[in-house]
Amino acid sequence: MTLSLEHQQRHTQRIAVLISGRGSNMMALADAVQSGAIPNAIVRVCISDRADAVGLAGAAERGIEAVAFERRGQTRAEHETEIVRTLKEHKIDLICLAGFMRLLSPNFIALYRNRVLNIHPSLLPAFPGLHAQRQALTHGVRWTGCTVHFVDETLDGGPIIEQRIVPVLDDDTEETLSARILTEEHRAYTDAVACVVRGDYEIMGRRVVKKSPA
Ligand code: GRF
Repeated sequence: MTLSLEHQQRHTQRIAVLISGRGSNMMALADAVQSGAIPNAIVRVCISDRADAVGLAGAAERGIEAVAFERRGQTRAEHETEIVRTLKEHKIDLICLAGFMRLLSPNFIALYRNRVLNIHPSLLPAFPGLHAQRQALTHGVRWTGCTVHFVDETLDGGPIIEQRIVPVLDDDTEETLSARILTEEHRAYTDAVACVVRGDYEIMGRRVVKKSPA
């Protein structure tokens, strides 16, 4: 699904945020919409694949519909069908993955081509997959950060919209480094979503070229 710039400009973009846990990025996005840092957008629904996700309460507190679809005995296709039904009910334009711990199928990605964003706690393409902060510490890099990217069929591999860097300090633990990155994640995700909602970018191969860089 691709939307023209004209369509995006006259239409409030309806966002769904998919989470599995804490939901701090979801709350940062909701608060950025509320404060006007992300104009012309509304967070319509927060979907979790875990009923015990702490972030669901944060969404509900913000007046956002918060729903959990646990996979239980379902196949991936059945589980995604439930999620897609909710996305369609809410006429969702943009899906933000924020600590959502499931891989989306190629069918799902095709349905929302270039309309699914993800945030990852490393400077991709370094350290994709789980425990990116631990991978950075183990590897001994001096700098790491976070990346917001479009989701394609590859793991953490789609076109990059935004990145922020943070130093790795000698006395860092996984916790201290994760906290430093998380602060930047909230800023990077806000900037990336604002850019996509404005629609003033073009995807050229792997590159996301911004027409009016922030
Ligand atoms: C973040 O570090 C994000 O980059 C990663 O999962 C974590 C989610 O944190 N994909 P939160 O649930 O948004 O607080």
